[in-house]
Amino acid sequence: MAHSILVINGPNLNLLGTREPGIYGASTLEDVNALCVKTGVDNGAEVTCFQSNYEGAIVEEIHAARGKHDAIVINPAAYSHTSVAIRDALSGVAIPVYEIHISNIHTREEFRHHSFISAVAKTVVCGMGIKGYAASINAAIADLNEA
Ligand code: DQA
Repeated sequence: MAHSILVINGPNLNLLGTREPGIYGASTLEDVNALCVKTGVDNGAEVTCFQSNYEGAIVEEIHAARGKHDAIVINPAAYSHTSVAIRDALSGVAIPVYEIHISNIHTREEFRHHSFISAVAKTVVCGMGIKGYAASINAAIADLNEA
């Protein structure tokens, strides 16, 4: 059976394309979703995309991933820097986590330098633009193929 990967995008990422294009680029969330699905199709994995601006909705999507998805690729956006709830949900479901940020959070404001998610992630990709989603999905597929 094909590997199943859930891609989660957090708050404000629905505004991609118009939101601070100097930092996040011109691609829209639809472009990101299309790239994620294509990366999966090209490598034999099924990719499902989810976006929410609500912390609780993200927590519930992570809970619902149990028994359904083999890996989670997540851009927690601003919740990276604040959310113990999302981190606990990710460790609670014990599904491998691949964290991705479009921008390089380490060259930006100090408050972006720490992510609560990184300690429970297998990989952390940042600063690659939206190509980071493809890199994270490929890393997940490579790990699942090895397992
Ligand atoms: C982001 C970086 C976060 O600091 C920010 O709050 C975002 C997007 C990124 O993809 O670069 O919303 O996760």
